[in-house]
Amino acid sequence: MTQSNNPLLSVSISASYAGNKPVLRHLILEIREREIHGLAGGSGSGKSTLVLAIMGLLPPTCKLTGKVSFNGVDLLSVSESKLRRIRGREIALILQSPTAALNPMLRIGTQLREAWRAHKPRQDENEEIRQTLRCVSLPDEEAFLRRYPSEISVGQGHRLLIAMAVLSPWLHHCGRTDQRVRRNYTKGDPGPAAGM
Ligand SMILES: Nc1ncnc2c1ncn2[C@@H]1O[C@H](COP(=O)(O)OP(=O)(O)OP(=O)(O)O)[C@@H](O)[C@H]1O
Ligand SMILES: [Mg+2]
Repeated sequence: MTQSNNPLLSVSISASYAGNKPVLRHLILEIREREIHGLAGGSGSGKSTLVLAIMGLLPPTCKLTGKVSFNGVDLLSVSESKLRRIRGREIALILQSPTAALNPMLRIGTQLREAWRAHKPRQDENEEIRQTLRCVSLPDEEAFLRRYPSEISVGQGHRLLIAMAVLSPWLHHCGRTDQRVRRNYTKGDPGPAAGM
């Protein structure tokens, strides 16, 4: 990725779910490298719809028009296979609920390693995983990694989802962050990122 003044993400869209009034009307948004944005709005105002539109994850019942350009790629017309490569590697989605996002049957270390291997299959993983855990104020010991999602707190679960997402992508969307993570984002700097 090169440093430039061009937006990393440029969005100009409208969206409506079948049979309902439009949720997003001519929404325009630009995010440049290393910018961090917050998006505030009432419940049901369309925040998740915007993020799902950017990720190409809206259900077919949602009519989306306009343009979403990420790093020069038009995400609304790109092939599904290319979009799949961008998702996770270049754009990450940090879901709001750890209980819904984490697999209750797998140890958290297993889930972290799976996320890491999806991005960088051939590189040494342990040190980078431990570094990322420290960056989100989680213990980096093996005993912690051997726990199941039900054996960690909700706050630790949120930070674990963030750790999984920051293992490499350039752009992060998150439903919630906490103060420790925001502080470490500026201090530890896990990579070029913009959050929403
Ligand atoms: N799959 C769907 N089918 C139909 N309507 C939907 C669907 N998903 C969301 N909506 C509606 O679209 C509107 C925007 O929803 P959205 O989830 O984007 O809001 P939000 O701003 O993220 O809300 P919250 O803060 O509660 O998470 C709401 O009126 C919601 O009921
Ligand atoms: Mg939402």
